[in-house]
Amino acid sequence: MVYQNLISELKENILYVVINREKALNALNKDTLNELADVIAFAGKTNEVRGVILTGAGEKAFVAGADIKEFSEYNAKEGEELAKRGHENIFNAIENSPKPFIAAINGFALGGGLELAMACHIRIASENAKLGLPEVTLGLIPGYGGTQRLTQLVGKGKAIEIITTANMVTAAEAEKIGLVNYVVPQADLINKAEEILNVIKQRAPLAIASAIKSIVASLNEENGYAIEIEEFAKCFETADFKEGVSAFVEKRKAIFTGK
Ligand code: CAA
Repeated sequence: MVYQNLISELKENILYVVINREKALNALNKDTLNELADVIAFAGKTNEVRGVILTGAGEKAFVAGADIKEFSEYNAKEGEELAKRGHENIFNAIENSPKPFIAAINGFALGGGLELAMACHIRIASENAKLGLPEVTLGLIPGYGGTQRLTQLVGKGKAIEIITTANMVTAAEAEKIGLVNYVVPQADLINKAEEILNVIKQRAPLAIASAIKSIVASLNEENGYAIEIEEFAKCFETADFKEGVSAFVEKRKAIFTGK
C-alpha cells in the first residue's frame, strides 16, 4: 500500500507501519489519521497479517500528538467530531483489532501520540523515549482515550498526576509504573517487537483474537466475563483447538492454520 504519510510493509506476516512526518515530529494531521484508519482496517481483515509494529520515523519522536496547527481554530462541535472520529476509526479500532499491535516508541510519545501507543496491545520504548499527556498545557484534556487508558495502565493516582502536571515521564519511569512493557536501546527497538510477535505468530490466530477481545472487554465492558466465556466456548469449534490439543498429546509442535 502506498501512503503519503505512512510507510507500510508486510514482511513475514508482520505489518510494519511507520508514521512518516519526521519534520513535524510525526504529529497526527487529518491525512495521517485517515491513512492510519485504512492500514488498521487492512491489518484486521488480512489473514497474512499476524501482528503489527507501529513506530515513528526518525530517532526523535514516535508521535508528538495530534496536529495542534490543524485544530487550533476548532469549536466545541468540531472538537467533538475530531475525537469521535479518532476513537472510532483509529484508537478503538486498534484496541479492538483481532491482530496484536505493538507500539515501538522511538522518542517523544505525547498527547495523541501516547494515546496511540496506549491503544496498542503492547508497548516497547527506546531508552530516549519521553511520554506524556501535555494537553492541559493547551487548555485541553486528552481526547483520544488518554484519560481512560492511562488510568487502566497505571492506576488513578499516577494518571491524575501525569495528566494534571503534564510532566513527561522517562522511559525508565514508564516501565516502572507499567506504562510500557520493556525499555531497550533504540537500535534494538524493532528487534524486540519482532521477537515478541515471532512468538505470538506461533500461537493459534483465532485464540489470539479471542484473548485480545476478552482482555479488552474486561476493561471496557461490564460483561467482560460473559464475553470471555463466549469466546472461550467458540475456540472449541476451531481446527486450531483440535490441532493444539492433538499436538500436546502427541508431544509435537502444533501447526496452526487459523481455521
Ligand atoms: N502538532 C503540530 N506540530 C508539531 C507538534 C504537534 N503536536 N509537535 C511538534 N510539532 C512541530 C513543531 O511545530 C515544529 O515545527 P516547525 O519546525 O515548523 O516549527 C517541529 O514539529 C519540531 O518541533 P519543535 O521545534 O517544537 O521541537 P523541540 O525539540 O523544540 O520540542 C516537543 C519537541 C517537546 C515534542 C515539542 O515539539 C512539543 O511540545 N510538541 C507538542 C506536544 C503536545 O502538546 N502534544 C499534544 C497535542 S494535543 C493532542 O494530542 C490532543 C488530543 O489528545 C486529541
